[in-house]
Amino acid sequence: MSRKIHIFDTTLRDGEQVPGAKLNKRQKIEIAEQLAKLGVDIIEAGFPCSSPEDLQAVKAISEVVRGPVIAGLARAVKEDIDIAWEAVRRAERPRIHAFLGSSDIHLQKKLRRDRETALEMAVQAVRYAKQYCEDVEYSTEDASRTDFDYLCRVIDAAIKAGATVINVPDTVGYAIPTEFGELIRRLKERIPGLDHVVLSVHCHNDLGLAVANSLAAIANGANQVECTVNGVGERAGNASLEEIVMILKTRNLAFQAHTEVNIKEIYRTSRMVSRVMNVPVQPNKAIVGSNAFAHSSGIHQDGILKDRATYEIIKPEDLGIREHKLVLTARSGRAALRHRLTALGYDLPAADFERVYERFLNVADRKKEISSKDLSSIVEIELTKVPETFVFRDFQIMSGSSMTPLAAVTLVKDGKELIDAATGNGPVDAVFNGIERIVGQQGILRDYDLKAVTMGKDALGEAMVRVEIAGSVYSGIGTSPDVIEASARAYLNAFNRFFANSH
Ligand code: KIV
Ligand code: ZN
Repeated sequence: MSRKIHIFDTTLRDGEQVPGAKLNKRQKIEIAEQLAKLGVDIIEAGFPCSSPEDLQAVKAISEVVRGPVIAGLARAVKEDIDIAWEAVRRAERPRIHAFLGSSDIHLQKKLRRDRETALEMAVQAVRYAKQYCEDVEYSTEDASRTDFDYLCRVIDAAIKAGATVINVPDTVGYAIPTEFGELIRRLKERIPGLDHVVLSVHCHNDLGLAVANSLAAIANGANQVECTVNGVGERAGNASLEEIVMILKTRNLAFQAHTEVNIKEIYRTSRMVSRVMNVPVQPNKAIVGSNAFAHSSGIHQDGILKDRATYEIIKPEDLGIREHKLVLTARSGRAALRHRLTALGYDLPAADFERVYERFLNVADRKKEISSKDLSSIVEIELTKVPETFVFRDFQIMSGSSMTPLAAVTLVKDGKELIDAATGNGPVDAVFNGIERIVGQQGILRDYDLKAVTMGKDALGEAMVRVEIAGSVYSGIGTSPDVIEASARAYLNAFNRFFANSH
């Protein structure tokens, strides 16, 4: 018989720890509502003691989102647990999720506690949380690098103190599937109490094994997996929700396990998370990447035309990806644009749609045809827009193989044009320096990614940057058929995010 696997989504907590992806309350509610539509079992809405804003966001989610359990994370100390309870207590089904390191390296180097003290802290934390809330999850952080006998003692004690869910994290993504599956099997064998609680795993992707490790755990008896949409999360990310769900669906017989996720909402959720968090999905990402269902070789195309099953194991439409035949040009009206946006998973409120439409006409004037990729990046730019303290107006560049590039940049602030010029190591660097001179703030470029989102000479370029400004990292995105302009818009977008944050 197929077992149900509980999907614990931590996009809004572990996922939000991605540098530059910090969400505000409105954005967190928007994602949480979509996660409820997706049918996840648990939404970890945040780490309420980490900031007053996060507390307010988790509170708001608990009040408005119905369906899934709403969990709030807490370290195994009273103050955190008090705040986590304050955040989730109005949820239809609240959960407090307490955690503490259990490996020697965490105990000695991070917590400076001996094993017995830490074990006692775990017990006290679960008992304390239990006074507030029936549903208490306990996580043994860095479990995969913890001494096995000690791990068993902590888990056993946490269950006896009242934990309803025990989570075994591979916090640093060190485990490999055979080992991790074996760990779960041995824990179940050694601790009879595990048969009466939910046994969860939480895998990170440092070695690219988060999904494989989660599946090995499922095969050995775990019945909850903690994961994030698009696999976003600390460092290399967390196990990807859509991959786990679709593996269990596609290979149900191999695992004899299933989830109750509404897979038709997968694509829409993926696009929303990417847009709102400003974290692009790599094109070859399994399940939701833009190339995941693109067949390019002649032999494959021939096979697909004869029978899709020759080269396709998942039907894209099952994930909510709708195919389209419509060609969008500057003459396409609102109805055609709306139709294509819906097919791409974007359900935009009227005001957002109008902004996208305006930008669409603008780009369509310069390009013959607007493809789905063009459209996605137009939407991403328009809807991840922050208040524009500075508006990009224009740039001019003088460059050549035997001269230092010089850029003149024009921005607008409060209706006033501001112009400045700067040199740089290359034309893009010169424009960035010009922007910095005008906004009066320096940035350190941490990440710069430029891609043609379409093919051909008139391809639309999309630039993504991460810029460190005053000690924090801000993301920026910009598109234009001109790659220097795309880069400049992205750079300025990051600065505008910084200014919006500092007000
Ligand atoms: O990676 C980890 O160990 C965590 C815990 C807080 C569950 O995120
Ligand atoms: Zn984690």
